[in-house]
Amino acid sequence: MKNIFLFIYCADLKKTNNTMKDFWKKQIEKHEKLVFLAPMDGYGDSAYRQAMKRVAPDIFCISEFYSADGLVYSKFLADSVLPHTEIETPLVVQIFWKDPEMFARAAKIIDNPKYNIRGIDINMWCPAKKVVRSGHGSSLLINEDTAFRIVEALNKATHLPVSVKTRRSFDGNQDLIKFAKWLESAGCSLLTIHGRTSKQAYTWFADHTDTYELKNHLKIPVICNGDILNYDDGMKKVKELDGFMIGRGSFWNPWAFLKWGYEPSLSELLEAMEFHALKLVETKGERKGNLEIRKHLVQYLRNFPGVKAYRKRLVTTESFENTQSIITEIRTDFSEFLDKKPWLWEIEKEDLES
Ligand SMILES: Cc1cc2nc3c(=O)[nH]c(=O)nc-3n(C[C@H](O)[C@H](O)[C@H](O)COP(=O)(O)O)c2cc1C
Repeated sequence: MKNIFLFIYCADLKKTNNTMKDFWKKQIEKHEKLVFLAPMDGYGDSAYRQAMKRVAPDIFCISEFYSADGLVYSKFLADSVLPHTEIETPLVVQIFWKDPEMFARAAKIIDNPKYNIRGIDINMWCPAKKVVRSGHGSSLLINEDTAFRIVEALNKATHLPVSVKTRRSFDGNQDLIKFAKWLESAGCSLLTIHGRTSKQAYTWFADHTDTYELKNHLKIPVICNGDILNYDDGMKKVKELDGFMIGRGSFWNPWAFLKWGYEPSLSELLEAMEFHALKLVETKGERKGNLEIRKHLVQYLRNFPGVKAYRKRLVTTESFENTQSIITEIRTDFSEFLDKKPWLWEIEKEDLES
């Protein structure tokens, strides 16, 4: 009898595990294309993701990258960066490191029901010299064997789907198709390709030609990334691929993820700024939250003709109340323009001077 229960339990567990591993396959069936917020260190924290998903609830968010050993050795780090709100679900966490065992150990921390994480993404993207020299990030493009063993070990250690974000090549001399098939056979369930080599870092333009070709050789979803400005641009560039990922295009503009070049009014912009500021303070506390919101606030108002007058105060804001009062002031000073679109320059220079 005991054996029968054990058999049923194991069969159920296997079913649940398979269901979780199939996550991306199921999303493909539900969506025309998968649209991602790119992982961005110093940006993609909980507050940023909430600010994006508030406007574009259908996107998938990948966290900033965290080191696998950081998560293993620091409970404080895990408890600070893994918890998130319902609006950010399904959240994928990105990690980097160089040895498979550490990835497997990190998976045990991340794959805890209390954090409700839905996927683990491996950073094989980062081109920073320090990162490459120490065998992490994009250096895995030239260490195929380690890359394989990392995906395999991580995949075995977790019920969650394992994905990889990488570049089209390290220095232009690698075989992307061979590398990607290698990762697929190790258990990678979604692959994002940035259209520059590691050597190019951010120079030149992203070129997705190799990524389009790659799609013909893989069964798993393939996502393109690099220089995609917004949803419409993404839909033009995605072609037969399964989705696209937007990074810098979202900096001042959660509306980048909406169809038909949606442009927010001044009132919507101010609301978004206030929401983002509040979430940063809620998630990181008054001191850190108010320091970090500064760079975002000016970016939101980048194309607003009146930003100059407020810039100095926005970049030195010290409390949420302070931020709120500057925003209220803009609302009052520009009350007749609240429903206008700032970057269309509907607010004329004369309006600012009068
Ligand atoms: C500030 C910043 C931080 C980034 N941090 C990460 C990171 O943690 N992990 C990662 O895989 N890529 C990171 N990236 C790269 C982006 O995910 C993305 O691949 C790159 O910006 C190209 O996309 P875009 O042209 O849409 O910005 C970062 C990019 C920026 C601008």
